[in-house]
Formats: sequence, structure tokens, C-alpha cells
Amino acid sequence: MKGLVLAGGKGSRLRPFTYSGAKQLVPIANTPVLHFPVRQLVEAGIDEIGIIVGDTGQQIREAMGDGAAFGARFTYIAQPEPLGIAHAVGIARPFLGEEPFILYLGDNVLSGGILGFASRFARSGAGAGVILKRVADPRAFGVAEMDGERLLRVVEKPAIPPSDLAVIGVYAFRPAVFDVIARQAPSPRGEFEIADSINGLLAVRSTVDVTLTDEYWIDTGKMEDMLHANQVILEEMPGCIDDSAIVQDSAMEGAISIGPGAVIEGCRLAGPLVIGADARLRGCLVGPHVAIGARCELTNVTIRNSIVMEDSAIAACPEVADSMIGRFVRVAGAPAGARLTLGDHSRMEAAE
Ligand code: DAU
Repeated sequence: MKGLVLAGGKGSRLRPFTYSGAKQLVPIANTPVLHFPVRQLVEAGIDEIGIIVGDTGQQIREAMGDGAAFGARFTYIAQPEPLGIAHAVGIARPFLGEEPFILYLGDNVLSGGILGFASRFARSGAGAGVILKRVADPRAFGVAEMDGERLLRVVEKPAIPPSDLAVIGVYAFRPAVFDVIARQAPSPRGEFEIADSINGLLAVRSTVDVTLTDEYWIDTGKMEDMLHANQVILEEMPGCIDDSAIVQDSAMEGAISIGPGAVIEGCRLAGPLVIGADARLRGCLVGPHVAIGARCELTNVTIRNSIVMEDSAIAACPEVADSMIGRFVRVAGAPAGARLTLGDHSRMEAAE
């Protein structure tokens, strides 16, 4: 079995972070989102992985490498324009060949991995497999119309959903899907939809396996989703303080991860939280649910439920919450209760 991870597309809902970078590289719990699909494929024994890239391809290649760091082999496949998920699968045909494959959308985070799903599909003779999850508002997703346990069709982003079962961004296919994709036309929103590929398989009486999941799943499309995913992944982390980190005159409770070379002085840390390599924190109250990237410097800051990406410096903030702060940002003073959304290289200074 092979894997295909989608890391192209636009990312317009995650601006300002996607002005300067790929949405799949935005970190949660200090880990780029794209690492999660790749790790889960490798855990399921799938190490031949194609990665679809678009405009941000160079950045993704640099961040992910050739796959060796993940125990995998990556083949990068350039999609000239984001014409849809089915289009991306179609152009990967030479890489995927005649093998069954798992398609994993590079901005999806799913707890619990895909081992069971992948091995059930490998044993089944089905043409495709989908995973469904009950959601409060299915209108932003592909939605399953069911007849009992049988999938009748998938409706993409319906105004009136036929059920509360969203199709999550992990699919399994056999090569028969390529014949369906070759016959597909763009949808009213102009994309070659993966929902139509599944419906095409159903129309030729191919079996589509359905798995219902209770695991945590999120499509990290929006800012609030990122902060929520950050909370959930931090909750799952056991905590680990690197031997080379220095922690002085500080109090700690809960699950705390501190990377190599980090220096923490006079702080109160309330986990779950993660502090990246070579970060320096002085006089701070941090947590819960905070991820501070590598090489950040925080001085006299109180911060909770936030993501601070690498190489940023924050000083003199009595209360920062629910914030996403990009890379190489400088904040010198923010009013109490500040909720900051700052793209890479932003500057914020309090008036004298
Ligand atoms: O997250 C699950 C949902 O994903 C499903 O319920 C929907 O049926 C499915 O269409 C998809 O909807 P999204 O609107 O969330 O898809 P999005 O455009 O965000 O693309 C998902 C990923 O695939 C993202 O990492 C970008 C990448 N992509 C997307 C397109 C359209 C590509 O690499 N190439 C593309 O042409």
C-alpha cells in the first residue's frame, strides 16, 4: 500500500499565517501539522509516500526532506494549480501505480492513527474506504447520505446536510478510482471533488467501506481550530524535560515538555505545555495549553491557550490568551487580556 498526502491548495482561511508559508507547516504543540499524517502512515506500515505540493512546494520540501527522518521515502508531486482533491489524486497516478493507497489531507489531524482503517481496507475487496465522524455543523465538509449502514452518496459542503456525518480527510482507494477521476468534471465551485470520485465508484457498484470514528478529528482550516487542536495534542503529550534544559527558581505542574538548550528562570509553568529548543523564558506565567516555539524569548509575560511559533520575542505582557503568534514576531507590551493574531515578522509596541 502507498500513501498520498495533500499539501498544496490555498489556505486562505488561515491568513495571515499562510501569506508567508504553507498552512500544513503551521505548528500545533510545536509540530507542523503535516507531520501527523506522515507519522500515522508510517505507523500503519506505509513508507512509500507521495506528497502533493503547490505554490509552497519549495518550503514543504525543505521542511520535510526526503522522508528518511520519518522512516519513509517521499516523492514530491507538483500540482500546477489547486484544481481539487480528485485532480491531485489523478496526477499522482504514475506514482501510485496499481497499488491500493491511503489518501490523507495534509491539514487534517486525527487522534488514534489509521492502522486499523488501513489494515481493514487492505483485507477487504472494497473500491474505497471512508471514515465518518458526527459533527455539530456538517456544512463545511463532505457529508454522508446513508441508508442504514450503507453509504448512498457524499454531498460536498451542502447547505442542507443529509446527516451529521462528516467525511474526514483520510480515504482509502484501489486504482479503479482513476477511471472515475478521468471522467469527472469540475463541480459548481470549480473543483474536481473527491466526493464525486466516491459517488462515481458507488455508481459503478463498487463497494465503499464506511468506518465511524469517535476519535478526535479536526480539519485545521481556521484559527480557532488550530488552538483547539493544540489543546488536544498537548493533553495527549506525556511531558519530558530535556537533560540539557536549565530550569531555575521556577514552579512547575502538569505535563511539561522542554526542548534541549532551553533556559527557564523565575517562571510558573502550568501544563500541558511545550517549550521548544533554545527558548529563553524569564519571569513568565505560562499555561495551560501553550506551545512556545524553538528560540523564542519571553520576558515578563503571562500567557495561556496560545501558539507562539519559532524565533519570536515577547516582553511585558500582563495577560495574553487565545493567541496565535507567527515566526520572527516582536511584541513589546500588550494590554491585559490581549488576544493576538500576528503573522510572521509582525511588530507590536506599546505606546510610551
Ligand atoms: O477535511 C475533510 C474535508 O476535506 C472533507 O469533508 C471534504 O469532503 C473535502 O472536500 C475536503 O474539504 P476542504 O474544503 O477542507 O478541502 P481543502 O480545500 O482545505 O483541501 C484539503 C487539503 O488538500 C489541504 O491540505 C490542501 C490540499 N489540496 C487541496 C486542493 C483543493 C491540494 O493539495 N490540492 C488541491 O487542489
